[in-house]
Order: sequence, then structure tokens, then C-alpha cells
Amino acid sequence: MPENILLVCFKQNSKHSRVGVSFEAIMGEVSYIIRKMTREDVPETLDVWKDTGLQEGTHCLYTWLEVDKDAVNIAVKDTGEIIGACSAVIHHEDMAFLGMYAVRKAYQGSGIGMKLWNACVEHIGPRNGILNAVPDKTDKYRTKGGFPILEASWSATVNETYDPVNHEVLSDDPPEGIDIVPFQESHLPAMFEYDLALMGYKREKALELNCKEQDSRTFVALDGDNKCVGFGTIKISCNALGQVGPLYADDPKVAEVILKRLIVSLPKAKGFAMMTVSNNLAAKKLIDRLGCPVLEECPRLYSKARFNVDLDKVFAHFDLNFTPF
Ligand SMILES: CC(C)(COP(=O)(O)OP(=O)(O)OC[C@H]1O[C@@H](n2cnc3c(N)ncnc32)[C@H](O)[C@@H]1OP(=O)(O)O)[C@@H](O)C(=O)NCCC(=O)NCCS
Repeated sequence: MPENILLVCFKQNSKHSRVGVSFEAIMGEVSYIIRKMTREDVPETLDVWKDTGLQEGTHCLYTWLEVDKDAVNIAVKDTGEIIGACSAVIHHEDMAFLGMYAVRKAYQGSGIGMKLWNACVEHIGPRNGILNAVPDKTDKYRTKGGFPILEASWSATVNETYDPVNHEVLSDDPPEGIDIVPFQESHLPAMFEYDLALMGYKREKALELNCKEQDSRTFVALDGDNKCVGFGTIKISCNALGQVGPLYADDPKVAEVILKRLIVSLPKAKGFAMMTVSNNLAAKKLIDRLGCPVLEECPRLYSKARFNVDLDKVFAHFDLNFTPF
């Protein structure tokens, strides 16, 4: 058996109570393995995540699998059904990002999640691990999950609505000297330069694949010297919303025009989602003007050390499941 595969059996129990009597019925044994996700597993793995009600782009998993082919662990029943997932993308030799942690409801509470998590933690090795936690799991991740360090100065704000947003409230006039244009391959070197200056490490493969994902649109802001001064992407989420991310810009006015053009470019989206950084107030104002409600605040946790960038430039996280900003 390959060393990253683990075979486990457990009793699937169900508790019933009727007229004050509580009893437990053993419904049978469930066998599953933990193994690495392949491209063929992507649609079903995404469906497990969709069960959480949270957003994720329909094609992002393909992108991050190219960045780190061993990133995603899945739990697979002996019937072949995928019942859980957890991802840990290695970004470079010192840092990895953990996310996409979900087990189908019928199988929760039986230890599958923890096994997926541990497989991911093993993959990360001695690197600093980073994640965004759902609020009710934060304490567990800190005390039992190996991610004790809480980011005190900000959280990731999940803004989402299943209603269309009114892009008319946003400006379509870029500042003088700035062009905002649909993504072309020739923009990549300038975008890579911008991203490296913001993040402090190279994410070229992830950026390029993000711009080329099916059902995604990207706009790039360029100054008179064709230097990139911001860019943004919108894509269809697993719940058919138009999900914005990343959205980076030096100037909030540039971010506003990119955001407007992104929303206009994807009319088939049934609603809107954008994950912001709580202390970027210009981003918060854009969300308020669009009338998009806040769903929740997700605390940022680290296993070893905090990692921050110039948050005034981050108007939307790239992806809450796979990368720090
Ligand atoms: C979070 C989730 C994946 C856990 O999967 P699971 O199979 O139910 O978890 P387990 O059965 O292995 O959990 C066993 C115990 O370990 C805890 N646990 C699970 N994962 C943990 C982790 N990563 N760190 C610390 N504790 C953890 C559980 O809370 C549980 O504790 P309890 O016995 O005190 O209740 C699952 O509940 C789920 O899909 N939730 C909805 C989606 C979601 O919120 N995902 C998290 C996004 S950040």
C-alpha cells in the first residue's frame, strides 16, 4: 500500500430518542482510505466543499493542483464516493496554506476530518502553516490543531449575497493615465512583478492559471509605462455566485473601476461574493456601496509565525482556501 494511504473502518452510528428513551443504532461499517486527490477527483471533491455552503471557484482546484500536486487529501469510501477533503498547498520552502477542510455531513464526528487534517499537516512538514478558520472552529484549531497563533489586527471578511449587486453605484472612470483592460497573455510579466512586490515571493503559476480558468474574467490596470498598478479576477463559484478574488490595487479608485468591470463582465453570476481584509476600509466601503452583506469574519491562524503584506492594496483575497492573500 502506498505510504500516504490509510485504511480505516468505523461504525456509523445514529442516535434516536423517542418518548424519553435514547438508543444508538449501529448502521454498519464504513471503510475509507485517505489518498491524494487527482484531476479526475476534482468535481466530486468540489461537491463535498459545496455541502458546507461556502464559496469556491469551480476551477480553482485544478489551478492549485498544478501548483502542488500533493496538496489535497481526500477520504474515499470503499464504494468510491469521496466523503471528505483537506488541502495544504506548499507555497515555498518555508510556507504552506491549509484550507478546503470539509467532511460530508453524514460522516462528520467519526474522526475522518482529523485524519485528513493530520495528512495535510504531515505534508506541510516544518513549514509555517497558514489558514483562515471558520469562527466556531478557531479555538479547536488553536488548541488541538497545531495552529496556535491568532492574527490580532485583522480577520478575513466573507461578504456574500445570492441577489445580484448593483454595479451602477461604482465608478467606471480610472484615474488619469491609468488604463484598465481585459487580461491578455502579454500582461503576465507586469502582473508577476506587481504580485511579487506585494507578496514577497513568486506565485507565477497560480496567477497565470487563475487568469486562464474556465468561467473567470480578469482585468489589469496599467500606467503610462505599462507597469501594472493592480488587477482583479471574477469567477463563477460552486454556488453560481460571481466570486471576486484576487483584487489588488495601489489606489482604491483603480480597485473600484476594476471591480465594476469584473461584475459587468460576468452577467451569468446569480449573486456576488468577495472576501476582504477587515482593516482595509476602502474595500469595506466598496462592499457597503454594493449593498452586499457580511456573512462572517474568519480569523487568520498560523502554526509558527505571522505573515502580512501591505493590506491597503488587498481589496479581495485571492482565495481563502489556498493562499494567504
Ligand atoms: C470541520 C470538519 C471538516 C471536521 O470533520 P469531522 O470528520 O467531523 O471531524 P472529526 O470527527 O475528525 O473530529 C473529531 C474531534 O476533533 C475535532 N477536530 C476536527 N478537526 C480538527 C482540527 N483540525 N483541529 C482540532 N480539532 C479538530 C472535532 O471538533 C471533534 O472534536 P469533539 O470530539 O470535541 O467534538 C467537519 O465538521 C465539517 O465539514 N464542517 C463543515 C465545514 C467546515 O466548517 N469546515 C471548516 C472550514 S475552516
